[in-house]
This record gives sequence, C-alpha cells and structure tokens, in this order.
Amino acid sequence: MNETISTILSRRSIRAYKQEQIKDADLQLILKAGMYAPSAMNQQSWHFTVVQDKDTIQKINQTLRGIFLKSGNKRFEEMAKSDKFNAFYNAPTWIIISGDEKAIAPQCDCTLAMGNLFLAASSIGIGSCWIHALTHLSNSEEGKALMNALGIPQGYKIFTSGVFGYAAVETPTAAPRKENTVTIIN
Ligand SMILES: Cc1cc2nc3c(=O)[nH]c(=O)nc-3n(C[C@H](O)[C@H](O)[C@H](O)COP(=O)(O)O)c2cc1C
Repeated sequence: MNETISTILSRRSIRAYKQEQIKDADLQLILKAGMYAPSAMNQQSWHFTVVQDKDTIQKINQTLRGIFLKSGNKRFEEMAKSDKFNAFYNAPTWIIISGDEKAIAPQCDCTLAMGNLFLAASSIGIGSCWIHALTHLSNSEEGKALMNALGIPQGYKIFTSGVFGYAAVETPTAAPRKENTVTIIN
C-alpha cells in the first residue's frame, strides 16, 4: 500500500493531547497542504487562523461555553454546565478555517482544506480532531466579537475548525465502515 493511502486509512480523530506544542516547521507544512486543496474556480476562498496562545484558546472555549448554555439544546446545556467544559480536548493548537461568503462554494473549499490539514498532520505523527461548535460563532454577538478579536476577515464565515497536537493515548482503531454505500455503473 502506498504511503498516501496508508495515511488516509490510519488517520483517526484524537480527543486527548499532550501539552507539547507542534513544531513550527510542521505547522507550516500542514498549512501548506491546506492551501493546496482544490477549490471552486480556484478561488482559494479560505483563511487560516492558527491559535496557539493558551489564554486565547481558553477565551474561545469560554465563549463557546456561553453559547452552549444559551443554545436551547438540552445536551449542549448539560455539557456547558460543567466547570470542566472543554471543547478542544486540551490540544495545544486550534486552527480555524473561515471562507469568503461571496465565493462560489466556500464551505466546500474550507472543508477540503481541513481534510488536507488532517491528513498532512497524520502523515507526520500529529493528531487532530474537527471541532464543529465554532461554526456557530457568527450566530451570537459575543461570537461575532470573538471573531473580530481573532482577526477573522470581514465577510468571512467560520466553516470548520480543528485541533492539533500529539496524541496522549494510543490512536483509536477505525469504526466499522457502513456497507452498501457504493454504486458502480459499468
Ligand atoms: C462535519 C464534522 C463535524 C465533526 N464535529 C466534531 C466535534 O464537534 N467534536 C468531535 O470530537 N469530533 C467531531 N467530528 C469528528 C467525527 O466524530 C469523526 O470524524 C468520526 O467519528 C469518525 O472518526 P475518525 O475521524 O476517527 O475516523 C466531526 C467530523 C465532521 C466531519
């Protein structure tokens, strides 16, 4: 099996991280992989925001907690009531990908870029996990204020975020794949 396929098959979402920060050269490599994702009409409608400052990561976590508490969703509210609320699994790096809302397909562009980030990270021994809650930031005033503070460009929406770092525990095995998800017409 070639290395690319092997990386695709072995990447898993990691939900417990060591505190050791990833190396800057590795971060640059991961970001570069994101920038080489396909994009509609090659618009490259993405913007990558890398957060490694611990206080800023906590601020994002606390803002999410506030949003969850007021969400009206019982499960989210229960999660947010805990003092230990932690949307980022204590990972040292959080990467947010926002996309230009005026682009043709920013959600697709940003999601493909995140896929590349995950695979690039996995190929060099760095774990990752998609963190979806951040996509709701623009629905609230405090979320919008945080987006401004993070320098998300005006007119851009957050489509995905992911955390990155070294796995603290062994990489989990893949869940079984669903059957009958392919139709081949020869
Ligand atoms: C759109 C999307 C949203 C996700 N949101 C979260 C999330 O908020 N928190 C989380 O821990 N994992 C999240 N995940 C990760 C999935 O749970 C994970 O990919 C899935 O269980 C399969 O596991 P694997 O990534 O190890 O193959 C998300 C994945 C996708 C594609």
